[in-house]
Amino acid sequence: MASLDSFTISTEVKLGRHIYTLYKLEDGVYCTQGSCSHEFSPLVEGIVMGGKVFCQKHGSRFDIRTGKVIDYPATQDIKTYPVKIEEGRVFIKT
Ligand code: FES
Repeated sequence: MASLDSFTISTEVKLGRHIYTLYKLEDGVYCTQGSCSHEFSPLVEGIVMGGKVFCQKHGSRFDIRTGKVIDYPATQDIKTYPVKIEEGRVFIKT
């Protein structure tokens, strides 16, 4: 869970042993796994642009809404999770 007001572009959320990244896009809030599928760099450190996140480490690019790989070197998609927003709080449905 995260406060909707606590971030502007992306933020990292830790739930137990799992880490997720939340993103604010034009059409809502989205959630992906917290690390890149290539070599596990934190996606919260990536650049968010046009609904995509660019991993800073080697430049892989993922579609935030679907988790699909768009640019290599990553070959595996990242997981996405639905979110629910209630009273300014973002809940991740894992
Ligand atoms: S760790 Fe993300 S592209 Fe390599």
